[in-house]
Amino acid sequence: MNKLFLSLSLAALFALPTALLSQQPQPQRTTIRSGELWPDDSGQHINAHGGGVLHYGDTYYWFGEHKSDWTSDALVGVTCYSSKDLLNWHNCGVALSVSDDSSSDIERGCILERPKVIYNPTTKQFCMWFHLELKGRGYDAARYGVAVADRPEGPYRFLYSQRSDAGIWPLEFSSEHQAVLDTLGTFHYQDWTPAWREAVDKGLIVKRDFAGGQMSRDMTLYVDDDGKAYHIFSSEENLTLHIAELTEDYLHHSGRYTRVAPAGHNEAPAIFKHQGTYWMITSGCTGWAPNEARMFSAPSIWGPWTQHPNPCRGPKAEITFGGQSTFILPVGDQYIFMADIWRPRRPSNARYIWLPIEFEDGKPIVRWQEEWTFE
Ligand code: GAL
Repeated sequence: MNKLFLSLSLAALFALPTALLSQQPQPQRTTIRSGELWPDDSGQHINAHGGGVLHYGDTYYWFGEHKSDWTSDALVGVTCYSSKDLLNWHNCGVALSVSDDSSSDIERGCILERPKVIYNPTTKQFCMWFHLELKGRGYDAARYGVAVADRPEGPYRFLYSQRSDAGIWPLEFSSEHQAVLDTLGTFHYQDWTPAWREAVDKGLIVKRDFAGGQMSRDMTLYVDDDGKAYHIFSSEENLTLHIAELTEDYLHHSGRYTRVAPAGHNEAPAIFKHQGTYWMITSGCTGWAPNEARMFSAPSIWGPWTQHPNPCRGPKAEITFGGQSTFILPVGDQYIFMADIWRPRRPSNARYIWLPIEFEDGKPIVRWQEEWTFE
């Protein structure tokens, strides 16, 4: 037997079981079991963390951060999965790839988090926004990034990244507020003192970042019934949420923005609208460690926003069942609360929480369920 034949036969022998395995149909899932492994159609645990879901046509597209086994830095990019029933997901591959070009803002090894995609019916483009930290700079850059595609699953073309609304004051800062801002010096306060909190509330950090642009970290997108879209993100050193209106093409900020819960320290915003009221669930700021969810409501996206008690119920409700909010998906007349159970020591093994939102006394609650399915 010649060597070539031998090695080809051996290769075929070893390749066969793997090929057969990957072709084996995966058992159909009929329920959602939060916190467990969630295999895609090839049997691999879904790798789409900090994500969101786009409903387009008769298909749902789940976008999220690809996480590797040993680091949370972006080594691959944003992944996309598709499904007709929200239970069984097909891996569509990488929607937005990080770049090997060292001059790119999304160079491999950057931090690229919480991607969300919305569809613009006028331009017929799929618009992806995400939180971006430039490679090698920790969480200092605090930018958002924007990418665009002609098809939901991509490939997405990276457009730009930047801080938010440079040179623009929030809507509520009237000309009288300028006098208040003039009284705020950056060096007069000791962090975390009541005086400092009050100064943050009045705009201490907005003023500090006015020229260079406001910080932009944990984020989501929201498209309202009238087609206007909004970027909601942690700003001001994660102390204050900003809600910024997007331009009609969904690719830029329009320059109109408001602040929510100044100095309240909120991350991981997820939003939905029910019977005319806007509801937002957020987390506190404890990095990968879970904490107690917060909830806010408002009669208009521009506020006023009112805080309510923790909406979670059941075991570990005081730490969001071990997770952190990422998105709220409307499905028919239901809303699905999506969260991530982070596993920083092995990021790819992070798990998902998907739970239906119920209403109690007119307010949303999220009750833990081991297993459930869509009505
Ligand atoms: C979390 C945030 C995550 C990630 C992490 C890094 O609070 O929600 O998206 O940025 O911190 O520690």
